[in-house]
Amino acid sequence: MHKQLIETAVKARQMAYAPYSHYLVGAALLTKDGNVYTGCNVENASYSPTNCAERTAFFKAVSEGERHFSAIAIVGGKEGEELSKHCTPCGVCRQVMTEFCDNDFEVILGTPEEYKVYKLPEVMPLSFSNTEL
Ligand code: THU
Repeated sequence: MHKQLIETAVKARQMAYAPYSHYLVGAALLTKDGNVYTGCNVENASYSPTNCAERTAFFKAVSEGERHFSAIAIVGGKEGEELSKHCTPCGVCRQVMTEFCDNDFEVILGTPEEYKVYKLPEVMPLSFSNTEL
């Protein structure tokens, strides 16, 4: 399941629109019902409207009525280079994961050949969530 999700993220990465950073990211988000939503980063000449691959996947899924997620695979690297280093999610994407996911949510980082699986609290310790409100 993890490897397959990474492979789906690799395909999603092909759609990345990153003419400014030339750093291409793909994500594949698995719902608890077994549906998969993909995302890529979408950059902008004004820079700040840029959306990360992870948030693209989450917002596609949530806007289709999904609310329960079990894992996300993330792959990223420089345009024209082999995928090697792990692409770790930015703070804003970790906060979005915190909004919709529980402590069992898995964050899968790496490549189809080599990846590591983290639980959400490992990548987002001491998080602020809706349980505080
Ligand atoms: N980016 C993502 O899409 N996800 C990450 O986890 C890290 C960064 C994107 C944002 C921007 O388009 C490019 O990578 C360089 O920061």
